[in-house]
Order: sequence, then structure tokens, then C-alpha cells
Amino acid sequence: MQSLIEPDIKHSIARQFSRAAADYDKAAEVQRRIADDAVSRLPASANRLLDIGCGPGRITVGLQGRANQVLGLDLAFGMLQAAQHNAQDVTWMQGDADALPLRSESVDVVFSSMALQWCDPLSLSLDEIYRVLQPQGRAVLTLMVDGSFYQLNDCWQKVDKHQHVNRFADPGKVIQAATEAGFTVQSHQQDYLTYHASVRQLLGSIKAIGANVVIQRQSGYLGRHTLKNIEGQYLEHYGCEHGLPLTYRILTLELSK
Ligand SMILES: C[S@@+](CC[C@H](N)C(=O)[O-])C[C@H]1O[C@@H](n2cnc3c(N)ncnc32)[C@H](O)[C@@H]1O
Repeated sequence: MQSLIEPDIKHSIARQFSRAAADYDKAAEVQRRIADDAVSRLPASANRLLDIGCGPGRITVGLQGRANQVLGLDLAFGMLQAAQHNAQDVTWMQGDADALPLRSESVDVVFSSMALQWCDPLSLSLDEIYRVLQPQGRAVLTLMVDGSFYQLNDCWQKVDKHQHVNRFADPGKVIQAATEAGFTVQSHQQDYLTYHASVRQLLGSIKAIGANVVIQRQSGYLGRHTLKNIEGQYLEHYGCEHGLPLTYRILTLELSK
């Protein structure tokens, strides 16, 4: 699979999510909705459950009623510091979804919400999830796919013709990678919308949860003039009574080993 993001991106991801850790929960309203829907697809009980890309742990803590032991793993140390503050009886680990620091066949359920879009190629983390799951193990994963943030991308491109928002993975390729990893796959796709009073506020909502790595670095300084032009395009093409909409296109995978 062709790489969609820059090679040194892991450090940027960890740094930006660490920076966002303190205020993540206040800002991450759409992430909460997405994760809650995914949690409802998990098996009712498990022995050892792993949450990959657990962030500050608010979802992870809620998973404790579903498993004897819950493990929360994240790339960003700052996120784990916040998580540790939230709950001591979860085992928090710093690690990378592409190289899970766990023995093979050592967990029976894997959960991950809104983290795996940062893993590229995704086949690495899917292989790792397959490896650490016990036979008959299950995984529920959500990730942003192609079409996410399309309004922002479209309006920005209308202003200066460049691609400023990184492309997300093609959902068909994600499903194919999960099948090739060895899983039986069920999937569904859903759009979640957020609404914003201005483009500045919209960009701020992405930054506040640490996801501004999707905005390519060559974007440079976004001057008032450019912002105003993007906003004009946004109002003209997408504006509605609730404000400026932003789409999170979410693929949910239910995987069985
Ligand atoms: C948008 S937050 C989601 C947090 C939480 N799962 C939720 O739904 O609120 C994405 C998290 O994934 C983590 N992450 C990104 N890439 C990762 C990787 N390769 N391995 C583990 N965690 C990663 C980030 O550090 C961040 O905490």
C-alpha cells in the first residue's frame, strides 16, 4: 500500500497529541460519539481487553465493566500521563500500534477508536492485532477514511489549488488489509458531522484534539486574507443553518480471528 503520510510523522503525532492531552476531553465531543457507538459493538465480557490509541483514557476507563483486565496503550506519553490521573486500575502502556509490546495470543478483545488512521500502512497494525489476539478473539476498530474533512479540503483547494488536508485511507483497501491479515470482517461506514461558527473555529477544533497533523506542513502561516477566502467558499458551498459543517467519515470494523 502506498504511504499517505510523511515518514517522520510518528514523532509529530506523538508530540501533537501529547500537547492536546490536557484539554482533549473538553474538545473531543465527536470522538466521544464515535467511540460510544463502537463500544456498543463490543462483546459484553472479556478477560483481557486492549484499547489501542487510548488517549487520556476516558473511554478506556468505561471499558472496565467489560473485562477482568483492561490495558490502555498510546504512542503519546502526554496522553498516558493524563490517563494515569484518571484511573490507576487500568494498565497504561506507551507503545506503537505497529509494534505492540504484548505477547502473541495474550488478549481476547481489542478496541480502538479514532487512532488507526495515523497508522500507515495500516496492514502493520492489523497484523499486530491479529498476532496478539487469542484464537476466536474479537476486535472493534473505528477510523477516519477517505472523504473525511472533504468540505475543508474542497474550499481550501478552491483558494490556492494545493492539497492541504492529508488524504485518509480508502475504506475498500482497509477492509482488504483486514481480510489479508486473516480476519473475518464485518464493516460499516457512517458520517458524523460537527458544525462551526467560522473556519478559524473549525481549524481550532481539529487542533484542540491534536489531529492537526492532517493539515500539511507546507500550509505555513494561514493569513487573514486566505482564511477569509476559505470561509467565503465554505459559506457559499456548504454553509447551513447550523454553521459550517465538517464531516468525519468513519469506518467501523468488527473483526473475528
Ligand atoms: C483522536 S485520539 C483518540 C483517543 C481515544 N481513543 C478517543 O476515542 O477519544 C487518537 C490517539 O491515538 C494515538 N495514536 C496515534 N498513533 C498511534 C500509534 N501508532 N500507536 C498508538 N497510539 C497512537 C494518539 O496519540 C492519540 O492519543
